[in-house]
Amino acid sequence: MTETTGPVPSERIDLAQSLLLRWDAQQTGFIRHRDLRFEAMVTVIRNICPNKKPRILDLACGPGSLIGLLLKSIPDIEIIGVDKDPLLITIAKDIFGDEDRVTLLEADLDAPSWLDEISGEFDAVVSTTALHWLEPHILSRVYFEIADLIRPGGVFMNGDHLQYDEHSQSTFKAIAKQDDKDAQSASFDHGVDNWEQWWDVAEAVPDYACAVTRRKVIWENKNTAMPKVTLGYHLETLRSAGFSQTGTVWQYLDDYVLAAFR
Ligand SMILES: C[S@@+](CC[C@H](N)C(=O)[O-])C[C@H]1O[C@@H](n2cnc3c(N)ncnc32)[C@H](O)[C@@H]1O
Repeated sequence: MTETTGPVPSERIDLAQSLLLRWDAQQTGFIRHRDLRFEAMVTVIRNICPNKKPRILDLACGPGSLIGLLLKSIPDIEIIGVDKDPLLITIAKDIFGDEDRVTLLEADLDAPSWLDEISGEFDAVVSTTALHWLEPHILSRVYFEIADLIRPGGVFMNGDHLQYDEHSQSTFKAIAKQDDKDAQSASFDHGVDNWEQWWDVAEAVPDYACAVTRRKVIWENKNTAMPKVTLGYHLETLRSAGFSQTGTVWQYLDDYVLAAFR
């Protein structure tokens, strides 16, 4: 589903890589310790696959930040990345398309048909800064779906900001909110692209015109006032879906990596 067939020209790969670097800087503006989140995930994967080539599924992988890190950290690995956004998945395909260890699929987690092209068992299913985009009932459905994809002893991990409760944790919430504000201003007031600026740059690339047109249609009716769910909601749902142990493997204020073992 990329816009090119055959080898991707090297200038286009360079451009995609520079967009990924700018994406990483932009995302780090929102997630002060994004690198530590990723590191916690790598540590868990290494531990559950001491003598085995890990097979990983990255849900809503975007342009492939975590995929790139996993390839560097655990060279003998197989990764499948799934994302709904035609432009982000095209950038990922431009960067990793020649890589035998990576398969990239454009698919929408909102519909159960996202599973159509997924087969076999995974050691780990991972996701970062993405599942808060799903309606809670869809998130629950996805948790039941992935429980069937992960081998016994395998893991699901989600790195995301999870909201403190507005009433019973108002002080926690205020501190996390202030820290987010400070992190964002340290980046976005000092030359790092904010969300809109990054998209303006990426959407202006002529090679991506077709993906840009498609993404506009795909996101047209997106509900942007999504209900936020708590850490407890995630953990309880994962338990109900059949995960035997659930908890957190990393936390900074309201930013977590939660883990659920099969
Ligand atoms: C903030 S980005 C994070 C991307 C990447 N995981 C990262 O950490 O850099 C959120 C991602 O979720 C994807 N996404 C949102 N809703 C989705 C859905 N229903 N199905 C698949 N991907 C989705 C978006 O396209 C976007 O790539």
